[in-house]
Amino acid sequence: MPEQELTDKVVASFDTAKDERFRELMQALVRHAHAFVRETGLTDEEWGAAIEFLTAAGHITTDTRQEFVLLSDVLGISMLTVAVNEPGLGESTQSTVLGPFFVQDSPRIELGGDIAGGATGEPSWVTGRVTDTHGNPVAGARVEVWEADDDGMYDVQYDDGALAGRAHLFTDGEGGCRFWGLTPTPYPIPDDGPVGRLLHHAGRSPMRAPHLHFKVTAPGFRPLVTHIFVAGDPWLDSDSVFGVKESLIRPFDRHRAGTPTPDGRPLEGPWTSTTFDIVLGKE
Ligand code: BEZ
Ligand code: FE
Repeated sequence: MPEQELTDKVVASFDTAKDERFRELMQALVRHAHAFVRETGLTDEEWGAAIEFLTAAGHITTDTRQEFVLLSDVLGISMLTVAVNEPGLGESTQSTVLGPFFVQDSPRIELGGDIAGGATGEPSWVTGRVTDTHGNPVAGARVEVWEADDDGMYDVQYDDGALAGRAHLFTDGEGGCRFWGLTPTPYPIPDDGPVGRLLHHAGRSPMRAPHLHFKVTAPGFRPLVTHIFVAGDPWLDSDSVFGVKESLIRPFDRHRAGTPTPDGRPLEGPWTSTTFDIVLGKE
């Protein structure tokens, strides 16, 4: 069977699918995958190696270790999916990758509370307002925040089951949001599995530019998944998952030990502060 006839036949085999979107996705997948094989002249050995790679990704994946998300991230597919789903050049805050470390039920804190919960790092005072695209406050928005500790580890990467470095809180009547987090530090994405080997083979670094994750939801608004990145950090230009967007970079102002804190929290060492206003687009 000539090659093109084979592709046409496989594409047509999905004509019977009742779900239109499923049919569209599967037929496009077949066309593009076949084009890849044709373009590269993929050998049996190479395809075998790819299947071994995917098998290893499956074996290392657990409830708390998602190798397929990492693969999607380092191939830029996660960010491309974000890009094609972002409404045009609106005034709403830009999105970036969710990553594999979001946890549905984080502890609730009050406004001004501390998300650390035992995670180590330099305290950082984060304030901002959540508004709609006309500048009106979004009261009662749910703000989820999570980040790595100063060893570059998320709570779920430890085996103790404790939640730390993450919390959720709700904006006040003016859309105001404030909490203590940790000054983000650079960290490697988990690189002890097949995705790490892939990066190594490519001469790529697993490091992520330091960031603090946000997921913001409010009735009637598009959910926002984003980060803030630390201005001036050397990793901003080579984030391993291509997540950095200029509009999400914020200065983290440094304060010497002994500088009074905005809420009177007693702190022995230095701390930082930053602001991040979030604009939600309508659903
Ligand atoms: C993260 O930022 O938590 C993350 C994103 C992509 C891959 C690994 C980690
Ligand atoms: Fe992260």
